[in-house]
Amino acid sequence: MKIFSTASDLSLALAADRASGRSIGFVPTMGALHQGHAALVRQSAADRAITVASIFVNPTQFNEGADLAAYPRTPEADTELLRECGCTYLYLPTVEDVYPGGMEVNPVAHLEFGSFTTRMEGSSRPGHFAGVVQVVSRLLDIVRPEVLYLGQKDYQQVAVVRRMVELLRLDVDVVAVPTVREPDGLAMSSRNRRLSTEERRAAGKINHHLAVVAAGLRAGWPARELERLALKGMREQPLLAPEYVEVVDGDTLQPYQDGEPVRELVVATAVRVGDVRLIDNRIALRA
Ligand code: PAJ
Repeated sequence: MKIFSTASDLSLALAADRASGRSIGFVPTMGALHQGHAALVRQSAADRAITVASIFVNPTQFNEGADLAAYPRTPEADTELLRECGCTYLYLPTVEDVYPGGMEVNPVAHLEFGSFTTRMEGSSRPGHFAGVVQVVSRLLDIVRPEVLYLGQKDYQQVAVVRRMVELLRLDVDVVAVPTVREPDGLAMSSRNRRLSTEERRAAGKINHHLAVVAAGLRAGWPARELERLALKGMREQPLLAPEYVEVVDGDTLQPYQDGEPVRELVVATAVRVGDVRLIDNRIALRA
C-alpha cells in the first residue's frame, strides 16, 4: 500500500492506473477505523483493481468544535488495517491539500437538497451535510473512481451523496455496504469506544428496537404507532435518550405513509447514550 499526502501525487499515480485500464474503487473515511470500514475496503478490493481509501477528519462537517477536537485519531492502527484489507493507496492529506482555497470555498454550496438534508440528522446537525457534500465532491474530483463505497450505517449520508451525484451528473456508482455489527447487534462506530460499560450494554438494545419496528412494518402495522412504541421502549431504558425514530421512504427520506408503494422502507434513529450520540437504521422492506 502506498501512502500519499498530496492530491497531485495521488492523481498522478491514478492517471497511470487508469491509462492501463485498471478500475478504481474509493472508500472515504475519517479514520479510527474498525471492521465496518474494513468491510467497505474489502468489498472494493474484491471488486476493483485499485482501491483508494482516504483518512481525513473533515472540519467542515462538524457543527461542534469540541466534537472535532474529541474525534479519535489512530493513524498507525488504521494504516495496518487498510494494508490487511487489500487497500492499494491511502490518501492522508492536510486540510490545506483538501481545501487549497480555504475551507470557506465550497463549489457545491449552491446545490439544493431539500428534505434530504433538513430532516433527521440534518435537523439536529445544521451544516453537517453541506460539509459532507463539500468534502466528498472534492475527494471524488481527486480520485475519480468508478465506484464509491459508503456504509449503510449512515443511511442519510448515502441518500444525500447519491442525490449529489445525480445533481452534478457525476460518472460514479454509489454502492451501499451493509452495516457491520457487534455480536449484540450494536452498529460498529468509532464513537462506541467512548461508552462506559453500562452505556455500552444499554446501546446494544438500540438495534433490537429497530428490529421490532422493521418486523412490525412487514406485518403491516402503522408506521407512526411503531415509531411511538420504539421511542417509548428506548426511553424506558435509563441510559438511552432517543432523539428520533423515523420510518421513511428510502429514496426520498420523506415520512412513510402506510400503504404507499416504496422501493425501500427504512427505520432510522439517533440516540444519546450518556455524552455519545449514536445513529443506526434498518431496512424493513426492499422491493
Ligand atoms: P466515517 O464515519 O469514518 O465513515 C466512513 C465510512 O464507513 C462511511 O461510509 C460509513 O457509513 C462507513 N461505516 C461506518 N461504520 C460502519 C459500519 N458499522 N458498517 C458499515 N459501514 C460503516 O462517514 C464518514 O466517515 C464521513 O462523513 C465521510 C464520508 C468520510 C466524509 O467526510
